Amino acid sequence: ITGSQRLPVVYLSFAECTGCTEGLLRSTYPWFDELLLETLSLEYNETVFAAAGEQAEKALHDAVTKYEGQFLCVVAGAIPTAGDGIYGMIAGKTMLEIARDICPKSMAVICIGTCASFGGVAAAAPNPTGAKGVEDALGEALPKPVVKIPGCPPNPINFVGTVVNYLLFGKLPELDAYKRPLFAYGKTIHDQCPRRSHFENGEFVEEWGSKEAEMGWCLYNMGCKGPETYNNCPTVKFNDGTSWPVQAGHPCIGCSEPDFWDTMSPFYKA
Ligand code: SF4
Ligand code: SF4
Ligand code: F3S
Repeated sequence: ITGSQRLPVVYLSFAECTGCTEGLLRSTYPWFDELLLETLSLEYNETVFAAAGEQAEKALHDAVTKYEGQFLCVVAGAIPTAGDGIYGMIAGKTMLEIARDICPKSMAVICIGTCASFGGVAAAAPNPTGAKGVEDALGEALPKPVVKIPGCPPNPINFVGTVVNYLLFGKLPELDAYKRPLFAYGKTIHDQCPRRSHFENGEFVEEWGSKEAEMGWCLYNMGCKGPETYNNCPTVKFNDGTSWPVQAGHPCIGCSEPDFWDTMSPFYKA
């Protein structure tokens, strides 16, 4: 790969809902098409690929062979591990086999979304398929740097920022203990929340549809998990800076934290 070449990306989809990919398709800074046409070379992605079946499989394996050690592997979705991975299959192979084959051949793995990062909804109790995040599922079979961009879905800007960091500085960004980039996950929602002054003043919403809810008071008593959740939603917002859950009147449900389906629920207190 030379400086003028676009960075090859292989984007694998495992046990997921496609929300992360759909979110990324709506990236506006830059627009997703600019990202694809000017910055990255997307070698494989099931959602936007024109190819299907054997043609798509060939494209995947050709890219991995051609760019071994030089491509970025992006993974969306958890990996079912129970029964040797039998609960998730693509093209006759288990997702576990595919991940074991392809991820170690990349130069780095970016887990997009909470499913790929920590298991997400697929791994919620009782987790009959033994779904795990990529790093947990592969263990020592993944001797490559891993970056996690959790969120359900994550903000595309956090993914783009990670890639741009690599392209500009030749290295992945600084990470926290869960391998989330500090530039995006360095502060809690609570510490950046515009409703924080209401929290400090003891001004809480106690009922949906109330006057307090209308006035934008703090949602802590309705179940808000902002104090325990690290993400940059209040500052970057979604949909080109339009809004984010708390601005829309909904408590944060902790979607960028490990095991949030189990540890942050019930999501509502009232
Ligand atoms: Fe879907 Fe959420 Fe999993 Fe992304 S993290 S694939 S949005 S369930
Ligand atoms: Fe904190 Fe949530 Fe209240 Fe915002 S709405 S101040 S994040 S508890
Ligand atoms: Fe998720 Fe909470 Fe942001 S639910 S989208 S981390 S406000």
